[in-house]
Amino acid sequence: MTTTKAPVKSPFTPEQEKILIAWTKHYPYTNLGLIEALRSVQDWHRKISPEAASFVADLFNLPFNHVWGVVTFFPTFTQWKTGDKRIGICHGLTCFLAGSGKMEKCLEKTLGVPAKTATPDGKFSWEAMECLGACEQGPALQVNDRLIGKATDETIATILKDSRAAKT
Ligand code: FES
Repeated sequence: MTTTKAPVKSPFTPEQEKILIAWTKHYPYTNLGLIEALRSVQDWHRKISPEAASFVADLFNLPFNHVWGVVTFFPTFTQWKTGDKRIGICHGLTCFLAGSGKMEKCLEKTLGVPAKTATPDGKFSWEAMECLGACEQGPALQVNDRLIGKATDETIATILKDSRAAKT
């Protein structure tokens, strides 16, 4: 007896689907586009849900568990919704000794949300991250794709002020 799999309902717009399909054809081997497709999903949704991963798995003709394994392996991908500005504080040993723990407390107090939780307006989230590769500049911060070394409480205040000003 053959079973027919129910089609996965798309959590994407038609334009986004076109971009995802393009990633399946971008490289000589279909699977090579998977990470880029997932990066697109993370950018659009600020997270990757099981529904989105399932849709991507179907597009790439891969088992859901394969795609979900990639999603849960790389810290770039989140299952919680990040803010528009995703602030990461390195909690590696060098940065911790340079004061990153104090800055985590500063961010929690300033944004009013715990780690891995977006602010109610969706503009910010913060989280501890593994070594950002800038140990000599600790404490290191990452704001979306931008790396900032020798960060201080004032650095955080400036980032938040500039980001809020840019959106208004
Ligand atoms: S320990 Fe923080 S960047 Fe390496």
